[in-house]
Amino acid sequence: MKDSNEFFVIKALEDGVNVIGLTRGSDTRFHHSEKLDKGEVMIAQFTDHTSAVKVRGKAVIQTSHGEITNESEMSL
Ligand code: TRP
Repeated sequence: MKDSNEFFVIKALEDGVNVIGLTRGSDTRFHHSEKLDKGEVMIAQFTDHTSAVKVRGKAVIQTSHGEITNESEMSL
C-alpha cells in the first residue's frame, strides 16, 4: 500500500502461534501461514497482497491502534 508503511508486531506467548495473511481484493483467502514458537517475534506490514491478518494462539499484538493480547486456543 503506497499510503502506509506502518509495521505491526506479533510476539508469540506459546508455541505454535499461527499468523495468517489474507489477500487483498474481492477474493479473500489465506495466502500465507507463519508459525511462531514461544518468544518469537514477527514484524510485518499490510501490503498490496495482504489486507488482513488472523492470529491463532496466545500472542501480544502491537499496532498503531494499540496493543492486544489474545487468548490461547486452549482457554476458549
Ligand atoms: N508476501 C507477503 C506480502 O507482501 C508477505 C506478508 C506481508 C505477510 N505482510 C504479511 C504474510 C502478514 C503474512 C502476514 O503481502
